[in-house]
Amino acid sequence: MIKTNQQNIPTKPTKTKTQTSIQKCCDTKLPSATSGSLEIAIVPDLHCHGGSDKTIPELIARWLDEYRPDVVVNLGDHWDLPSLAFQTKGQHSSAIGPTFQSDVAAGIQANDVIWKTYQRAKDRWNCHRIILEGNHENRMARATEEPERWSLRGLLDYSILQTDRYYDEVVRYKGSTPGLTSVGGVTFRHYAPNGMSRPLNSMHLGYQLTQKMLTSTVVGHTHRFSYFRTTASDARVVHGLVAGCCISEDDFHEYAGTSQTSWDRGVACLHGCENGNYSLEWVNLNRLQQLYG
Ligand SMILES: [Fe+2]
Repeated sequence: MIKTNQQNIPTKPTKTKTQTSIQKCCDTKLPSATSGSLEIAIVPDLHCHGGSDKTIPELIARWLDEYRPDVVVNLGDHWDLPSLAFQTKGQHSSAIGPTFQSDVAAGIQANDVIWKTYQRAKDRWNCHRIILEGNHENRMARATEEPERWSLRGLLDYSILQTDRYYDEVVRYKGSTPGLTSVGGVTFRHYAPNGMSRPLNSMHLGYQLTQKMLTSTVVGHTHRFSYFRTTASDARVVHGLVAGCCISEDDFHEYAGTSQTSWDRGVACLHGCENGNYSLEWVNLNRLQQLYG
């Protein structure tokens, strides 16, 4: 079941935390500060599909097992769903592509792999697992907006992704924009919308996030890495992080064309996260492969 209420993050026996809490929020009500030092692992856009690289979830599983963070945030676009890209060459405008079932299964299998070790170790590893809905998962909702596809609403429903089997908190879209959640004083969302519901974008998006959101924010979506931190006049440290993606270089995405060469591939650790402040560690995919491949 998708959980929507405030929840407590369990504490690890090896760490001392006080008043550790998590508060979900909506776009109109920004989160209150939380306290307690947290280790937070960020898994950005995986874009799983029937033909995607099966070794990536294995790497993530091994990395998480060694890191054993308090919180894992999957930033969304866990599924690519190319079968619902109605602009795909050769695909009829009202048709679901023939790979739909394998696309859905690929993301579920990736979650199975990523969380297999945790399932065995959770007596010793308390971890709050969060997944955000990205624009690629939201393709299912958009696909059924047209009257010709209303009859598919039961089939193209977010519940078929079975995210509640693997995550304690599932953050869905709010209307036309990604929902958000807050942990350790940091806001997480698939992308931050500009005033017109479109994704905020910039060559220096990390900086833009600090200036526009006015609170520490982590996003995915662009598949690029961008980071900026600044200290406000009230001494708050505000971080803006765009966390790249975790897609194999061998996995070609038609819609992205040559822009894929500039994607930044890896995962991130927010060490000692408290009141929106943390120490950032970025681990690129090559390093993950060296360590865990
Ligand atoms: Fe993405």
